[in-house]
Amino acid sequence: MILVTGGAGFIGSNFVLDWLKQSDESVINFDKLTYAGNLDNLSMIKSDPRHKFVKGDICDTAHISQTLSTYKPRAVIHFAAESHVDRSIRSPIDFINTNINGTFSLLEAARYYCSSLSDVAREAFRFLNISTDEVYGSLGPDDAPFSETTPYAPNSPYSASKAAADHLVRAYHHTYGLPTLTTNCSNNYGPYHFPEKFIPLIIANALAGNSLPIYGDGQNIRDWLYVGDHCNAIRRVLAHGKLGEVYNIGGSNERSNLEVAHILCDILDDLIPKRGIDGVGTYRDQITYITDRPGHDRRYAVNVGKIERELGWKATESFDSGMKKTVQWFLEHRDWLMASTEGGHKEYGDRIGD
Ligand code: NAD
Ligand code: DAU
Repeated sequence: MILVTGGAGFIGSNFVLDWLKQSDESVINFDKLTYAGNLDNLSMIKSDPRHKFVKGDICDTAHISQTLSTYKPRAVIHFAAESHVDRSIRSPIDFINTNINGTFSLLEAARYYCSSLSDVAREAFRFLNISTDEVYGSLGPDDAPFSETTPYAPNSPYSASKAAADHLVRAYHHTYGLPTLTTNCSNNYGPYHFPEKFIPLIIANALAGNSLPIYGDGQNIRDWLYVGDHCNAIRRVLAHGKLGEVYNIGGSNERSNLEVAHILCDILDDLIPKRGIDGVGTYRDQITYITDRPGHDRRYAVNVGKIERELGWKATESFDSGMKKTVQWFLEHRDWLMASTEGGHKEYGDRIGD
């Protein structure tokens, strides 16, 4: 079996659902269930005996060690993190605790677990660290996309904490021979995306008739990847990645935030037309420019040459079809969206539901 941390969050839950669709291998899902963790994401596999949920904090080394020695997974896939840049600016402490100290605890537990394994099991063991393209900093308009050799230059407490975690993972491979792999991925979107993040926030606010908040001039660029393609890439890296190596993952879909908001409004206009005073209207009317995020990175773009060349991975979802699928999913899961918005609202006060 494999052990996943953070498997009740956005990408982790998509990964667990995908994994069990494609494989009979069981999954231990170790998650603290913070505001971002939601067992409803996994309701489809509620009675699937191949999924075992363990509520726990990755900072708790003893609990992780006990979980590892009980279930003896052949791999750890580490998604658990505090993941929202705006929250890291408001209150960095949880990011330092979970992303740095938590990754450290997990590495320590994995190191001792590995040393207890037989030669054959140790040889097969993998520790896959799920990281972000944000560790590379911000690109100018004409800069080449981030490659695996781009120097780290994190700009937010979130990205700095993820960079620290990546360095620890690298050190555990070089110093202790822990069989690690790291992936650095661009912005994901798709089902179960928590509505504090841009795409689901725009959808939730549009449907609620609230303003659609665009930071600054709306010209910041992100490289969007459908979450299912990220899950495929992770499986590929786990199966075929070279130990100690880093693989960048991205969608090769650079879009400004304003473009993304326009696309979402247009899809919604199509699927669930809005009625204005005179019977016509567009969700675009709800777009509002607000004060920029401090230190807001201008542009991310990822060079996916290495993972395509060496592991044969390629994103399959086009941006248009992925966005349509995503809006459709949120329309079909309005209860999930409402519940998540309310849950996040309690924690996050004024930002959600603007
Ligand atoms: P998320 O915030 O939706 O989910 C995080 C999950 O981790 C939640 O289930 C939460 O309960 C759990 N968690 C948080 N702290 C924990 C702790 N101390 N112990 C155990 N569990 C804990 O995050 P996401 O967007 O799914 O991101 C998953 C991973 O992928 C993160 O490491 C993130 O940095 C990385 N990543 C995300 C994106 C993206 O666009 N969302 C892109 C690239 C990389
Ligand atoms: O690049 C990968 C990263 O992508 C992940 O590592 C992070 O975990 C994930 O949260 C995401 O970070 P971003 O900061 O890029 O995502 P977010 O959805 O918060 O914002 C996307 C863009 O939209 C960014 O330029 C800020 C802007 N934005 C965001 C919000 C929430 C707005 O204009 N208005 C908003 O209300």
